Amino acid sequence: MQIAIDGPAGAGKSTIAKQIAKTLNITYLDTGAMYRAITKGVIDRKIDFADQKAIAQYAASAVITFKGQRVFLDGEEVTEGIRTPEVSEHTSEVAPIPEVRKVLVQQQQRIAEGTDVIMDGRDIGSTVLPNADYKFYLDAAVSERAKRRYEELQEKGGLNGKTLTDIEADIARRDYNDSHRAVDPLVCCDDAVRIDTTHMTIPEVVACVIDHVEDGT
Ligand code: C5P
Repeated sequence: MQIAIDGPAGAGKSTIAKQIAKTLNITYLDTGAMYRAITKGVIDRKIDFADQKAIAQYAASAVITFKGQRVFLDGEEVTEGIRTPEVSEHTSEVAPIPEVRKVLVQQQQRIAEGTDVIMDGRDIGSTVLPNADYKFYLDAAVSERAKRRYEELQEKGGLNGKTLTDIEADIARRDYNDSHRAVDPLVCCDDAVRIDTTHMTIPEVVACVIDHVEDGT
């Protein structure tokens, strides 16, 4: 079974996907973590963000591995390190590079081969798993997504002086970049079930997805 979950930043994709993976006892793959890991590698190696060729070369040689929810880059754990505001900001410069996408999409498809999997990202239903059994597009109003991200950062202590307005602007910019890039932009596929989670709780969204899967719709 293959389940694709796409949607903009802060729509709750990873929280929902993790819970569904647990409920259905299938593998969960966070593809955003892979784009973030490459971005962290680019920052750590001081590669110039304007040098797309060097970034593509690095992406082709980088080794990203997962142990459960933990993420490793070239053998070093980066689970926390890929969630910093700096990495979030620069990922939208790395993710549009076609060669980077090619390398990561191939790795994602390899991971999905012969495995029951739920993947979340921006291009899962359109590019990574176009024949997925189930496709969902999770959306929510940008103000609600910003509020969720703000509360999450507040709890973790990662706000670094950012206001709710700053976070909403960051999210809106990421949405714009992700939906307007030339290669594999964020889209809601025609065959995806669109769920607006603005006024839904996490258990409600999980139940909604599971219902669709159990009904085979
Ligand atoms: O899902 P997450 O917010 O961690 O993703 C970080 C960034 O990685 C996104 O804003 C997007 O630019 C990129 N991404 C992507 N394709 C995916 C997953 C993430 O371009 N499948």
